[in-house]
Amino acid sequence: MLSYKEVAILAAKEAGNFQKTKFRSSFQVREKSPANLVTEVDIQSEKIILDILTRHHSNIDFLTEEQSVSEKKNAEKCWIIDPLDGTTNFAHGYPLFGVSIALEIKGSIVLGVVFIPMLDEIFVAERGKGAYRNGAPIQVSHVNDLQQSLLASGFPYDAWTNSDNNTHEWAALLKSVVSCRCDGTAAIDLCHVAAGVLDGYWELDLEAWDMAAGSLIVEESGGHVSLPDGKSFNIYQRGILASNSNIHKALIEKLGR
Ligand code: IPD
Ligand code: CA
Ligand code: CA
Repeated sequence: MLSYKEVAILAAKEAGNFQKTKFRSSFQVREKSPANLVTEVDIQSEKIILDILTRHHSNIDFLTEEQSVSEKKNAEKCWIIDPLDGTTNFAHGYPLFGVSIALEIKGSIVLGVVFIPMLDEIFVAERGKGAYRNGAPIQVSHVNDLQQSLLASGFPYDAWTNSDNNTHEWAALLKSVVSCRCDGTAAIDLCHVAAGVLDGYWELDLEAWDMAAGSLIVEESGGHVSLPDGKSFNIYQRGILASNSNIHKALIEKLGR
C-alpha cells in the first residue's frame, strides 16, 4: 500500500499535469462571487485528486475548495485540498498556479505537498522531517534586514468592497523592503518563502486549503508562521504571516494589525 506521502504526491502530479495539458486551451470559466473565478479544470482536478486519494486510503475525511465534501468517516484524519491554487492566473493564461494537498491528523498538519506543473517542481514536507523541492532539502533565506527583503502578498476577492483589503499594509511594507510581489497563489508564495526565493509573505483573508500544505513546508524549512498580528497560527483563522524567522518581528510591527 502506498504511504500518505506517496499518494498525495501521486494525486498532486496527476492533477497538476492535467492542468498543464489544459493551460491556455479553451475551458469554461464562471464566477463563484464577483472576481472569484472557477474553471472546469478546477472541478476536474479535484475529481482526479479525490479519486486517487480514496482509492488508496478510503477512511480519511476531506476538506476541499470546490465541493467541500466531508463525510466525516474518521474525525481524526482529514485531507485539506486546493485542487488549483491560482485560478485567476490559470484562467488568464498566466503560468503560475499549483495543486495543494495537506493531511491533518488530530488537528495538526503532518504532511504538505504543493506541485507547480509549469515548473515541474514538487514541494513536500512531513512534520519533523524537513522540507524538500524535487527531493532536495530546502531552507529559508538568511536575510535579517527588512530593507533587504523581497516579500509577497495578495488581496481578497472582495477587495472592491472590503475596507480591510490589505492596501494599507501593502503600502506600508512597500516603503520598507526591496519590493513586493503579488503572485496570485498563496500555496506557491509559501513554498517560495520555504525555498528562500521570498523572505516573507502575508495575507489577511485566506481559506484553510490555501495555507495548510504551504504553512508546514515553511515551518519545516526553518521559517516561522503566525497570524499577521503575531499570534499563534491556525489554518482556520484566515490570515497568515510567513517569513524566514529573522524578519518576523519587524514584519509584525510594520503590518500593525
Ligand atoms: C487564491 C490565491 C490567491 C489569494 C486568494 C486565494 P484560488 O486561491 O491563493 O493568491 O490571494 O485569496 O483565494 O482561488 O486561486 O484557489
Ligand atoms: Ca486557493
Ligand atoms: Ca483553488
